[in-house]
Amino acid sequence: MPNLPGRAVRPVRSQELDSFLALDNLAFLQTPDMSEQRRQLQLDQLELDRCIVAEADTPDQGSGGLAGIAAITSLDMRVPGAWLPVAGVTSVGVHPTQRRRAVLTAMMLHQLHDLHERSAEAVAVLWASEPMIYGRFGYGEATRFLTLTIPRTTSMVRTPPPDPTLRLRMVDPAEVDLVRGLYDAQAARRPGTPRLDDRGHRLRVTDAVEDREGFSALRCLVAEDDTGVRGFARFRVKGAWDTGVTRGVVRVRELHAGDAQARHALWQLLLDLDLTATVEVWLLPVDDPLLRWLPNPRVTNPALRDGLHARVVDVDRALAGRRYGGGPPGAGVDTVIEVRDALCPWNAGRWRLTGDATGAECGRARTEPELVMDVRELGALYLGGTSLVSLRDAGLVQERVEGAAARVGAGFAHDPAPFAPFVF
Ligand SMILES: CC(C)(COP(=O)(O)OP(=O)(O)OC[C@H]1O[C@@H](n2cnc3c(N)ncnc32)[C@H](O)[C@@H]1OP(=O)(O)O)[C@@H](O)C(=O)NCCC(=O)NCCS
Repeated sequence: MPNLPGRAVRPVRSQELDSFLALDNLAFLQTPDMSEQRRQLQLDQLELDRCIVAEADTPDQGSGGLAGIAAITSLDMRVPGAWLPVAGVTSVGVHPTQRRRAVLTAMMLHQLHDLHERSAEAVAVLWASEPMIYGRFGYGEATRFLTLTIPRTTSMVRTPPPDPTLRLRMVDPAEVDLVRGLYDAQAARRPGTPRLDDRGHRLRVTDAVEDREGFSALRCLVAEDDTGVRGFARFRVKGAWDTGVTRGVVRVRELHAGDAQARHALWQLLLDLDLTATVEVWLLPVDDPLLRWLPNPRVTNPALRDGLHARVVDVDRALAGRRYGGGPPGAGVDTVIEVRDALCPWNAGRWRLTGDATGAECGRARTEPELVMDVRELGALYLGGTSLVSLRDAGLVQERVEGAAARVGAGFAHDPAPFAPFVF
């Protein structure tokens, strides 16, 4: 590890775990008196050997001498055409008295240098509490999602013909084996979605009271036929009455389906539950089929938000780790890109990228670049959901050869849009 500016940053010690969790809760404005179940969930989510801390110069009461914390969760993430180990940066927090003194900067540099030196994950991703924090560290906005508030809807439009073989059933959310196969198959369709192992599937349905916000425990609705599960939805409900009028709310956490009929059947039940008035959907893909069926999408107040922010840690391994073009061999990319990266000098310079739907190679180039961009823009492009032409039009990518942005952009693009179905 080179001499990095700022505080001493080091791995957490096992006896500091309580201080780590306390600082996590302090930074994220969580209640200090959390339930044992919530505490256990937090501990289960942490990979101890991937947690780092920054030491405080003036320790605060109860801080255990920590100024900042950060962690990585090991993800096996879908990227266009392939699965890739990806570093999921999480639990980033700085003690309120130590803010704006470069503690975060020191931890971010530590993580990036450490990943590079160990030849660990070539890409890091994170959910940002506020979108303006991470661009300076080379993270680009790589996925987006929609948030909808849907008035109860009895009739959707242009829906698929009903399938009489399809049945809906409520199951215990803890029965993750029922839905695992369907999730895994769907995860392969959208870059940005992590593949889950047994532990990951169980963590997804751990249901701490603090996370319910006055709603019910998690419920799971399954659409199935004699061949097995074709879709499932996880959701919560909250009953409410307003001067005698029912105003219950359904909050959909996630919905996965392998075909249009199963997807439609799940939404139909959720959008028309008795005693409810509103359905809240916080995380919906920007191209979700539901948008085609809602009779009046305008009344759902759709809000477009930033999802995963991605950071290319090692340009050559990252770009060789995904596929391009999605079509027949030969329909991919063959280009030279000049990358600027002030924090990770090993990335700076010219790279020759060739790739198609079957494989990709990336190495140092001697020829002139077609495109010049900061590593942040490369992160935004990485999962296939950002238009290279739009980055050029915003002045964020220089196009040195006319038409290169459209041509190379077509190779990077992925359909359906990338999507991250949950926050880690
Ligand atoms: C966000 C947080 C980690 C920043 O830590 P920090 O140690 O204050 O950050 P640094 O001092 O290293 O800041 C580096 C730069 O980022 C800027 N920055 C930091 N946080 C910012 C924010 N929330 N909004 C805008 N700019 C921010 C700083 O102003 C500084 O800019 P400068 O170099 O031009 O002066 C800290 O405020 C925090 O813990 N917040 C609550 C929890 C949280 O939101 N964590 C992030 C989870 S994804």
